[in-house]
Amino acid sequence: MSVAENIAETPPSEVTGTNMPVKMETRDVNVFYGDKQALFDVSLDIRQNQVTSLIGPSGCGKSTYLRCLNRMNDVVDIARVTGSIKLDEENIYDPKVDVV
Ligand SMILES: Nc1ncnc2c1ncn2[C@@H]1O[C@H](COP(=O)(O)OP(=O)(O)O)[C@@H](O)[C@H]1O
Ligand SMILES: [Mg+2]
Repeated sequence: MSVAENIAETPPSEVTGTNMPVKMETRDVNVFYGDKQALFDVSLDIRQNQVTSLIGPSGCGKSTYLRCLNRMNDVVDIARVTGSIKLDEENIYDPKVDVV
């Protein structure tokens, strides 16, 4: 196998971290500030003991997405979140969840 082919190979899951359990699972997350949509169908797994980074230009929605994970968009009056966000398989937007 040539060097180029070798580099193109997908690294093993122990290297990518995809062998680790999913800690937070987000599916089809949309966020609206009033009429303006800031996130569009974001589906992402965040795995235990792995560093997950969000990279993108200013205003692309990185902070908005992070605020979904700890429900800090709750304190933004005009923000509305849809989709599914689970921590340890529990929906953190379930009304019976204690936000604190
Ligand atoms: N509190 C807010 N009210 C209205 N619009 C907001 C608010 N916070 C962020 N936005 C808008 O949502 C989009 C994503 O912003 P943001 O999540 O801050 O991006 P990033 O963190 O990637 O720079 C931008 O268009 C921004 O203007
Ligand atoms: Mg930001």
